[in-house]
Amino acid sequence: MEGDHSASGQRRGDHRHRRAAQALAEAAAALKAGGLVILPTETVYGLAADAANAGAVARLYAAKGRPAFNPLIAHVADLAAARRIAHLDDRALALARAFWPGPLTLVAPVADTKAVCDLARAGLDTVAVRAPGHPVAQAVLARFGGPLVAPSANRSGRPSPTTLADAMSETGPFAAAALDGGPSAVGLESTVVALLAGAPRLLRPGAVTREQIKALIGPLAQADLDARRSPGRLSRHYAPASPMRLDAEAPLASEAYLAFGPAPAGRAVFNLSQRGDLAEAAANLFAYLRAADALAPSAIAVAPIPRGGLGEAINDRLRRAAGFVG
Ligand code: TXA
Ligand code: MG
Repeated sequence: MEGDHSASGQRRGDHRHRRAAQALAEAAAALKAGGLVILPTETVYGLAADAANAGAVARLYAAKGRPAFNPLIAHVADLAAARRIAHLDDRALALARAFWPGPLTLVAPVADTKAVCDLARAGLDTVAVRAPGHPVAQAVLARFGGPLVAPSANRSGRPSPTTLADAMSETGPFAAAALDGGPSAVGLESTVVALLAGAPRLLRPGAVTREQIKALIGPLAQADLDARRSPGRLSRHYAPASPMRLDAEAPLASEAYLAFGPAPAGRAVFNLSQRGDLAEAAANLFAYLRAADALAPSAIAVAPIPRGGLGEAINDRLRRAAGFVG
């Protein structure tokens, strides 16, 4: 209990601390043994595996039902660890120094093809790398001592989980251990930027915005449709079972509604942010999509969301949920 300095409060605190340390040790041991672990990050929950262990990575693809041509992100503790597995140029270094640990993934030429095995990279000569900011993810990486691949902990083609309960209902049966880190603060997957030959390219918009990146390294080219370089852009993602109707000013009687800004309440209305705040809307998006979908409405109608800043990432996820691949 906060502010409880009694002897029993102290004992409860010690007990919680011991339990957390034990859960951490068990998670690291499970990863070392080639098992899968549900891990909180500040973006969404991940399903982690030892990046160097091809058997573990194969089990990870199978658990997600994910096509093996879609490469994974290697999560590392910090920039020094990232530089052991990727050749980061000046632009990548500037971005890493500004935004790590945090919701930004850099795609760069691979420097160590054993630490991040071929299967994890889907055979590419590039690697995606990110230093997550969540203290539990940081603690696991420190304890494990090497790169961990961690795709979002959903089954392939489903919304990313932003709570431990949602992660457990997706891939819990495949996990040897699961760690609770509370609801994900960001709620959308990391921004992915490719720093290869030529102009930097935005492969996936996220909480680190196009505007923030441009301010550091200049304008970003739009992702091209080269399947080999940007495989994640080609599959249908984040798809609820219900059809979606975007930019809807109001719902029909049979629809669920994701509102944004001041809106009348209702049985099937989920307000992403009453005060029209994009960060709050991002954090609520996937959980509200799941909740709306669970009502089996004729469609999930969604209010118009501003396009700039974090709005680019929110609109990207909504278009994917609606089945428009871009
Ligand atoms: O926020 C996140 O990034 C979460 C948390 C758990 O860290 N992870 C996540 O992983 O979203 P995943 O596997 O669901 O998405 C990884 C994205 C995919 O779109 C994939 O195609 C892309 O990164 N990617 C990975 N390696 C790549 C590479 N070498 N070249 C291009 N794209 C790559
Ligand atoms: Mg994913």
